[in-house]
Amino acid sequence: MSPHSYTISHSSIDSERWEVSTARAKLINSTNVDNAIEFCRSNDVTLLIARCSTSDMKTVQAMEKNGFFLMDTLVNYARDLHKTPLPEDSGQIPIRPVQSRDSEQVQQVACEAFKGYSGHYHADERLDSLECNSVYTSWAYNSCSSKELADEVLVADLEGKIVGFATLKFNSTEELAGVLFGVSPEAQGRGLYRSFMIHGMQWAVANNAQQMTVSTQIDNISVQKVWSRLGFEPHNSFYTFHKWFD
Ligand SMILES: CC(C)(COP(=O)(O)OP(=O)(O)OC[C@H]1O[C@@H](n2cnc3c(N)ncnc32)[C@H](O)[C@@H]1OP(=O)(O)O)[C@@H](O)C(=O)NCCC(=O)NCCS
Repeated sequence: MSPHSYTISHSSIDSERWEVSTARAKLINSTNVDNAIEFCRSNDVTLLIARCSTSDMKTVQAMEKNGFFLMDTLVNYARDLHKTPLPEDSGQIPIRPVQSRDSEQVQQVACEAFKGYSGHYHADERLDSLECNSVYTSWAYNSCSSKELADEVLVADLEGKIVGFATLKFNSTEELAGVLFGVSPEAQGRGLYRSFMIHGMQWAVANNAQQMTVSTQIDNISVQKVWSRLGFEPHNSFYTFHKWFD
């Protein structure tokens, strides 16, 4: 299956978390909005989470006509890791690979960093906001041990206390994604995120990647400032819609 084609499937992780039958559609387009709705009706899906390209206004409007609500806008940036030299890291806080004993501290950092984060779950008033926070805390925690979620996790270790983490995952042998990053509020604004990005790029190069990609909410200005300064360029963008069927 091409990563550039439309897919729709039941999401067991969302269904368990929200306690309603949930499906996810990727790269929905105007020719398959009806198909997605039909899939949900015939499979008793209550919540559909659907993503489409921001350049596809026809699909956006088709979804609006069918009662989908916009929940977030994601922007993706990419960097060729060999075109220009990687910047030097001038950070003061040591960064190292995660160890199994760090998982709970990583979870705690995610809990503090992602409280009230403006993702598509938090934007949906029907979803419990405490449970929305736990999307990120459990994702961070599980990334420390699951190779399905992360190929590497880096942590910032400030004299034995973990104050930040970064999860990295290969999209393909050539492309590494910086997936989930969090810095605890006490350590924010000191360049730690920049350090994580540089360490992530170094890890990518050491593991033969040609390109690194990153993704965030369009209003997450802090990270986009860092990416621009490190040579990342805008790549593409997506809207996330939710449709409730009950
Ligand atoms: C986004 C985040 C990772 C930034 O971490 P950080 O270590 O503070 O980032 P840096 O110190 O490298 O700073 C990056 C830029 O953001 C700014 N910034 C950092 N924290 C900020 C805050 N709380 N309010 C406003 N600006 C902030 C910094 O000032 C800097 O910009 P500047 O150089 O123009 O001053 C951190 O705030 C965080 O964990 N946020 C919640 C989770 C998240 O958004 N993760 C990233 C997407 S997965």
